[in-house]
Amino acid sequence: MSYLGIDLGTSGLRALLIGEDGKSIGSAEKHYNVSNPQAGWSEQNPQHWIDALDGAIGELKKQHSEFSELKGIGVAGHMHGATLLSADGAVLRPCILWNDTRSYKEAAILDALPNVRELSGNIVFPGFTAPKLEWVKNNEPDIYAKVAKVLLPAAYLNFYLTGSYVADMSDSAGTSWLDCSARVWSDELLKAGHMRRDQMPSLVEGCEVSGELKSELQQKWGLSNTVIIAGGAGDNAAAACGIGALDEGQGFVSLGTSGVILAARNAYVPDPATAVHTFCHAVPDRWYQMGVMLSATDSLNWLAGITGTKQSELTSALGDKVLPPSSVRFLPYLSGERTPHNDAEIRGGFTGLATSTNHHDMTQAVIEGVSFGLRDSLAALQSTGAKLDGLTAIGGGSASHYWLQLLATILGLPLHLPKGHEFGAALGAARLGQVTAKSIAPEDVIVAPEISQTIDPVSTLQPQFDEAYQNFRLAYSGLKAIQ
Ligand code: XUL
Repeated sequence: MSYLGIDLGTSGLRALLIGEDGKSIGSAEKHYNVSNPQAGWSEQNPQHWIDALDGAIGELKKQHSEFSELKGIGVAGHMHGATLLSADGAVLRPCILWNDTRSYKEAAILDALPNVRELSGNIVFPGFTAPKLEWVKNNEPDIYAKVAKVLLPAAYLNFYLTGSYVADMSDSAGTSWLDCSARVWSDELLKAGHMRRDQMPSLVEGCEVSGELKSELQQKWGLSNTVIIAGGAGDNAAAACGIGALDEGQGFVSLGTSGVILAARNAYVPDPATAVHTFCHAVPDRWYQMGVMLSATDSLNWLAGITGTKQSELTSALGDKVLPPSSVRFLPYLSGERTPHNDAEIRGGFTGLATSTNHHDMTQAVIEGVSFGLRDSLAALQSTGAKLDGLTAIGGGSASHYWLQLLATILGLPLHLPKGHEFGAALGAARLGQVTAKSIAPEDVIVAPEISQTIDPVSTLQPQFDEAYQNFRLAYSGLKAIQ
């Protein structure tokens, strides 16, 4: 039998086929764009996700005969996006994404209401789903009046696959409509956000059945077995499943479009004041906490774009050995920031530029700035009691050895690199598909990967980076004062 993990990412969709032994059989990836119609806006047409899925399935089917033995599917998606559907299931407007900050005023109003933080366990960040619906209510009343269902991106793919409106707990936790402790939609939170229960999908755990593959897709994909679709997960919970992080002490740092430090937690210990996110995990009775920065590799992507150079060329030009801190400082707030500042309006900056500053100095400053931002998240997580002695490094940015050494030094933690290439959200999603289709215990397959390499902090440079980090914190205050 084979199992499919679908990672619906911000810049593309990755479909991974695994065998009964959990090993990769093959994968396919298709890319799409984010549209930014106005500053701070970030949208995607859900049809592009479907086209990407169809393309990826076509490739997998052609290249791997094991596809015909498909038994289970799990979908992981970028979180918080509002996909608005009419009563007949048609998409009403482009999906408003996780890194869209247009609804910051609506978020602040919701966040200040009594009980909202207590019930949801989190600050209502502008990127979360509830304030997006408030924005649509205030600015696009005709569309708002037609909203029959609100689906997160992963739940929308599940709907495409099964025809049913079902979402998992880990993704739903990022809406500000879920009671994250009881793992149910909260009437009080829905009322605060002017939403109704019938506009919500039904809820399952990530490793519970959300439905079966529709017969028309079963035929199109040339399958004769019944294919079970799991609840799936938000991409971070899925990535945690990919590296086997279910228990206290386990976690990862992800250098993706967003930057995330995640710690698995055995108990629900929210602490919204820290701007740490506390969400349900993709398996029952477990939660996780994370610090989220909005522009991690996106910052490097921006520099690559304006300098007309590839990201990989920028980082490889730094060499292999970590240099002492740059005298140029970069504040990575290109789209505002979540942890620890909860500041949608702040924007990034450079300090310390000189006539001698070149691409090389700016690249160094950018990856240092992103790493300092992640240290802010680590500090916030540690203040909630999360204990992390090391982190697994995942995400596109972890391809740079320089960046990993730098990050280990700035965080003061060893970073572990899993063996092989498959351990991210797509693997976590495939594992959820396998657990669900076989009805087995999550711990049977959601295990830690073999580690190929551990990258330790460069201890001789740590005092200099500690000082540079303090300087970064001061630079944030300065930036805040002038914006
Ligand atoms: C998490 C978050 C991002 C997205 C995109 O709260 O907004 O990590 O899930 O990956």
